[in-house]
Amino acid sequence: MKKVFIRTFGCQMNEYDSERMLALLKGEYIPCQEPKEADLILVNTCSVRKKAEEKVYGLVGRLKHLKKVRPELIIGVCGCVAQQEGERLLKRLPHVDLVLGPQAVYRLREALAKISRGEGPLVDINFQKDFRQPLIFPELDGDRPVKAFVTIMQGCDNFCAYCVVPYTRGREVSRPPEDILAEVECLVKQGVREVTLLGQNVNSYGRKERGFPSFAELLREVASISGLWRVRFTTSHPKDLDENLMRCFAEVPEVCEHLHLPVQAGSNRILKRMHRRYTREEYLSKVEKLRKFCPEIALTTDIIVGFPGETEEDFKETLRLLEEVRFDEIFSFKYSDRPLARSTNFEDKIPEEEKARRLAKVHEIQERITREINESYLGKVVEVLVEGKSPGNPELWTGRTRTNHVVNFSGPENLKGKLVHVLIEGCGLHSLRGRITNN
Ligand code: 5AD
Ligand code: SF4
Repeated sequence: MKKVFIRTFGCQMNEYDSERMLALLKGEYIPCQEPKEADLILVNTCSVRKKAEEKVYGLVGRLKHLKKVRPELIIGVCGCVAQQEGERLLKRLPHVDLVLGPQAVYRLREALAKISRGEGPLVDINFQKDFRQPLIFPELDGDRPVKAFVTIMQGCDNFCAYCVVPYTRGREVSRPPEDILAEVECLVKQGVREVTLLGQNVNSYGRKERGFPSFAELLREVASISGLWRVRFTTSHPKDLDENLMRCFAEVPEVCEHLHLPVQAGSNRILKRMHRRYTREEYLSKVEKLRKFCPEIALTTDIIVGFPGETEEDFKETLRLLEEVRFDEIFSFKYSDRPLARSTNFEDKIPEEEKARRLAKVHEIQERITREINESYLGKVVEVLVEGKSPGNPELWTGRTRTNHVVNFSGPENLKGKLVHVLIEGCGLHSLRGRITNN
């Protein structure tokens, strides 16, 4: 059997695609841990921010020496950088054999067959018209995971001014509900207990297709699959978050009390320039409503600092919004120009040092809030789905609360895949600590 090494950058969608590529290669390749052992190296790439893209060039560049020693080695670049660069990537990295866009990963086997017939290097960055991807049921063997991702749609129609995604992943296409349900059922039969439904903007699921359920309806159907204990989803666009979905948090026991709701900025002027199509006030009122339906809901968000034209006053609005909402956790980024994204041509770019200063300020405020929220768990008993041994300390188990907080805790053997109650006795910035209780 040949060996494949796969390295994944970026979002959960990429992780999902990487798993599917491994599933497609089954029978011909087995995964290995080191690039030097591999017959096939796949780098699944992200281009959402400049830094992510630079990492890809670094890694693929370093593979050149392996190809020199073993010319039969196949190197493939997949995902968003592949889509964005296409043929250009081969010019820059001539040791690459295969460039495969995110919608072409399902044609991996055909592409490899062509390369072994000597038809490489090969570029496939064609978009599909529908999202009737072949149903690839992963067979989870060995150390079976407790949770899994399931892509329900791909692409994005929103064209936020800073974002490359609509160009790399194409227009929004929803996957047929029966395919999604079949895939979740297959995972659950193999022991998966928690599923995260993935899409760039899950709230608009099915809107473009005739006869498809709404996202809230799909969510209820997925949640009703017997043996599935927890359902999560990401990402939601604030403009499309409606009451039907908010109700699910209150009414569907399997839907976990956590929502990732990227706000990006707190100033209306910047939100408008970003083409986000909601105001600060609309965002805050949705948060308020959500908390009425589900008071214990944990919220997380994405923030971009230093968008072109962002003044000190605009930036302070973002800081005020952080204080007002009190997110459990945030992911914050310095704005970077992306090819094709409209804001790349905007004037009034913010200097790098100023972006760094703003990012540090955002971190400082959010760290305090996250710590305060984590401390509020002390002395409480929470439900944890046990994922396995803690990577940092094999004496401890690790899992997540329904609100998506990581918990490391001590307890007896054989807890993986179980739902347990944990008394929280300590906390850091990124996790809670505790011990199992019978209560
Ligand atoms: N610059 C900085 N951050 C960006 N993001 C997307 N595009 C850019 C960009 N050009 C961030 C957004 C998005 C997250 C996935 O990445 O916050 O929600
Ligand atoms: Fe990018 Fe906006 Fe689409 Fe999200 S909603 S993927 S930020 S264009």
